[in-house]
Amino acid sequence: MTQLQNPTPLAAPDQANKSLAPLPKGGNSAADQVKVTAVTHWTDKLFSFQTNRPPSFRFQSGEFAMIGLADNDGKAITRAYSIASPHWDDHMEFYSIIVPDGPLTSRLRHIQIGDDIILRPKTTGTLNLARLRDGKRLYLLATGTGFAPFASLIRDPETYERFDEVILVHGCRTIAELGYSQKIVADSRAHPLIGEMVTAQLHYVPSVTRENFTQTGRITTLLADGKLASSLSLPPLDANFDRIMICGSIGLNQDIAAQLLAKNFQEGNLSSPGDYVIERAFVGDGI
Ligand code: FAD
Ligand code: A2P
Repeated sequence: MTQLQNPTPLAAPDQANKSLAPLPKGGNSAADQVKVTAVTHWTDKLFSFQTNRPPSFRFQSGEFAMIGLADNDGKAITRAYSIASPHWDDHMEFYSIIVPDGPLTSRLRHIQIGDDIILRPKTTGTLNLARLRDGKRLYLLATGTGFAPFASLIRDPETYERFDEVILVHGCRTIAELGYSQKIVADSRAHPLIGEMVTAQLHYVPSVTRENFTQTGRITTLLADGKLASSLSLPPLDANFDRIMICGSIGLNQDIAAQLLAKNFQEGNLSSPGDYVIERAFVGDGI
């Protein structure tokens, strides 16, 4: 795929005294290393980056991999990251939070073009199309960096072959935090290969909770009061026709799952595809 064009990126964070340690010698084969080819800072807490893709690296849209850096002692610090790029792309893309004292992201925030990062070859995850029964509409519900797996899925032609309509809802606190999803959706609509199906079949619903915006409110509220479907002139959620993927904090995931269970939606897995699937966007939020 063509590289994403960087829109007016923010200045990279201060690099002083933050040089990255070289990759650890032991435990990481050359096959685990990729080179950073682009970095965009969207806010002071969010950035995306691209790397080369090892020729043998395979994954399914919506999956995550372990990526990381070496610490000052040469020990690998790796974390789960959803792969934001589509499976057919020749580069890898990731979308990251910055946790100020986070072992990985306090370092990862300083990566620059040409740096090496660790990318473990194994991929996995629950947000895949194979876990869902056929249906008419696919709802992709994300908050924050939970958008990352959907950045991959909305660029996968199979998503549009399986479902007539795809409704992507991205909830954030502020408008600035929508920058990455807005850019991915705009680029996907304009893409020479997938643009036509994305334009015809994808509804993008960005929603903000702590500023005024065209759409405000939590995803849970938009779902519960039926405003989400009605604003798109779609019928109310119905387990006979609608399929759902959820990726956010544990609270969001639980609240949406409770709403869906009350409407007789069943969670899907590989042996028994269902009506909805859930992935946590991160761990450690109180559980
Ligand atoms: P950690 O010690 O890992 O985290 C410190 C605390 O920061 C956590 O306890 C949590 O409260 C908070 N936190 C961590 N990650 C996030 C986040 N993404 N959003 C909000 N708060 C967070 N992170 C991404 O940025 N992008 C991804 O695509 C992504 N995909 C993930 C997929 C899975 C399946 C899981 C389980 C996690 C994913 N994460 C993702 C979280 C990621 O693994 C790390 O937790 C994150 O990069 C922070 O690493 P850290 O070492 O700096 O801090
Ligand atoms: P709110 O601003 O009302 O807390 P965060 O940055 O904390 O991860 O939040 C990202 C978005 O997810 C925010 O819009 C936030 O709304 C929303 N959010 C957080 N927790 C929940 C939840 N349990 N249910 C629905 N939305 C949530």
